[in-house]
Amino acid sequence: MRKEIVEQVIKNRDDFTIKSEVENLLKQMTLKEKIGQMYQAPYSATELVGPTWNNLDTEGLIKEGSVGSILSLSDLDSIYNLQKIAVEESRLGIPLFFAYDIIRGYKTIFPIPLAISSSWDTDLLEESCKIIAKESANSGLHMTFSPMVDLVRDPRWGRVMESHGEDPYLGSEIGKAYIRGFQQGDFSKRDAIAACIKHFIGYGASEGGRDYNNVDISRHSLFQYYLPPFKAGVLEGVASVMTSFNVFEGIPATANRYLLKDILRDKLGFDGVIISDYTSTTEIINHKIAADFKEVAQKCSHATLDIEMVGTSFIDELEAICDENPEYLELVDQAAARVLTLKYKMGLFDDPYKGMKDKGEKLYLLPEYREKAREMSEKSMVLLKNESLLPLNRETKIALIGPYADSKNVLGFWNGLGEEKDCISLLEGLKNAGFSNIEHLQMELDQSEVLDEKLFGEALTMASRADVVLLALGEHQFNIGEGASRTLLEFSESQKKLAQEIKKLDKKMALLSFTGRPLILDWFHENMDAVLQVWFLGSESGNAIGNILSGKKSPSGKLTMSFPQNQGQIPVYYNCLNTGRPLDRNNVHRFCSRYIDSSNEPLYPFGYGLTYGEIEYEKLKLDKREMTPEDSLEVSIQIKNTGSHEAEEIVQLYIEAETFSVSRPLKELKGFKRVKLKKNAVEKVIFKLTAEDLKFHNRDLEYVNESGKYKIYVGKNSRDTLVETIDFKNFI
Ligand code: GLC
Repeated sequence: MRKEIVEQVIKNRDDFTIKSEVENLLKQMTLKEKIGQMYQAPYSATELVGPTWNNLDTEGLIKEGSVGSILSLSDLDSIYNLQKIAVEESRLGIPLFFAYDIIRGYKTIFPIPLAISSSWDTDLLEESCKIIAKESANSGLHMTFSPMVDLVRDPRWGRVMESHGEDPYLGSEIGKAYIRGFQQGDFSKRDAIAACIKHFIGYGASEGGRDYNNVDISRHSLFQYYLPPFKAGVLEGVASVMTSFNVFEGIPATANRYLLKDILRDKLGFDGVIISDYTSTTEIINHKIAADFKEVAQKCSHATLDIEMVGTSFIDELEAICDENPEYLELVDQAAARVLTLKYKMGLFDDPYKGMKDKGEKLYLLPEYREKAREMSEKSMVLLKNESLLPLNRETKIALIGPYADSKNVLGFWNGLGEEKDCISLLEGLKNAGFSNIEHLQMELDQSEVLDEKLFGEALTMASRADVVLLALGEHQFNIGEGASRTLLEFSESQKKLAQEIKKLDKKMALLSFTGRPLILDWFHENMDAVLQVWFLGSESGNAIGNILSGKKSPSGKLTMSFPQNQGQIPVYYNCLNTGRPLDRNNVHRFCSRYIDSSNEPLYPFGYGLTYGEIEYEKLKLDKREMTPEDSLEVSIQIKNTGSHEAEEIVQLYIEAETFSVSRPLKELKGFKRVKLKKNAVEKVIFKLTAEDLKFHNRDLEYVNESGKYKIYVGKNSRDTLVETIDFKNFI
């Protein structure tokens, strides 16, 4: 496999120093101790849920040098004590590193990643991740299992909440921002942490949207859609990569040498640590490619996996395997070397108690952290419909009704160490925003998502007294995330019934949708005056929504995942191929790619989102009609805010490849810019496209340019665009 030369710049002499230190340390280590670096132990069963494992004497294993790192431990005293055992009681005193799923916040909790991606604000995301890193690094943690960059197209999958949607380019830009914010160029720094990009690879394509289910995608799809965010993360210097639970070409990713060695290490040039997912090593027995732990250890080690998370096949079996088969010794040496190198880069050989001494809690939830979380939350919401209802006058008589009317349970899933008590409820946020005339009815929601219908009478009475009804409906926080795939993508029957009953009162109504995925909102789109996709926003939820509903801030978020009109359309995504019989919007005839009972179009397309402004697009211009690989193309457009509110518009640039050696998507996002527009303001927005932006994977999986025509689209979403054409002449 041709090694794609990633710029292997030795950042400073430290890389040479680290290399010699690691080689020196390896010479002193026993085989058992080297294998120990390849084991990540869960310390406290009470802190974890999930597949059980035999009760290990973790402290005893640390003393004998058989543990390299610890998973999901947050108690600072326990972290310090385990590190003390490793440093002072093991033979060589090699420090542990501590890792946790601080996906989008430690104590200051930011929106769920699907919401964060809807902000399209990579600068703000990078700043947010610096805060997340600071709270984490000062709480004894050295690595976060974030960002998750799985491309997703199926809202039935619970983990879409953790993703950044259906586009590889946007997913790449967002993944890089997380890494820059977490690692800050050098994660030995006091307030930085190592990032771990996941799940490598293809997990988001689980069949039926059912978690952990089979994945069957082509190598071409893998390279064209699923690989780009990982390639971008490797180029951004991500410290580690986590393998996924699924198979690829029938072999589980965790034991798949083609994926881990040929692609990740050899083709992308990744020289960091590859860590398994939680028991994804021993699960290859369930995948029926290993009969026992010995075969698990053989296959995962041969695939060049460095760390086994929770499973104990490496520490139980690898020593004997190496005795029987010396070729494994080299694999163990390489894995141990990568883990030790990571620890050097974490600064742990200089200060193994880094971040463990003075308690970090004085840093938690600082006002400036809350302010950043509020800004990200404001920018993450997506206004899907607004028939001149929002923003609301602060004197409006409001009936605030539903399970999220006054709930602090707005964290969603994968909440780090976030606590509900630190969250601002919607009612609190509306009051903080100056709304003075609110009646509210908080309705409890458990995982059945069935409301207490005895409260419906009170709800109707309250609604009948109001000018505007705000319906705060949603999913239960444990009905989203890992292990929470669902077959019915709608609000629960009782939530729908509540909405339908109130609708009969013929009041102005807005739906505030607290969900972790796209739901089918067709009835709400028809019957609400406004629809605001709120997601789960974390600590500053209520304040952010209050600022949007009051008009203090204009909504600016744009969807990064299409919202289907109905479940039958799934998967529906914007960057799809044209097919040999495309649906001709003018004259639908039988024999074309269509449904007999639905359109092909989503209810809300990728990139869609309204602001309080009225943004007009005009004067799309290209500075040339032909370009070569040496050229760059300047694309300019003029946008104007003719509305009565200032706004921030996310201007999007797409390409459509006309005729090339493989069929390419109808549209591909290749640029985006957030532009502030005061009332009546006019802005000229300029993009630059290069030959690199036009590359794609041909049938031989080479990343190439070819000569051909492109349409260049610029607009407010993937559907509503202006278009021009360019002819690309590839002379190479
Ligand atoms: C989970 C998830 C993974 C997470 C890991 C450690 O099963 O798949 O994303 O980082 O276990 O908690």
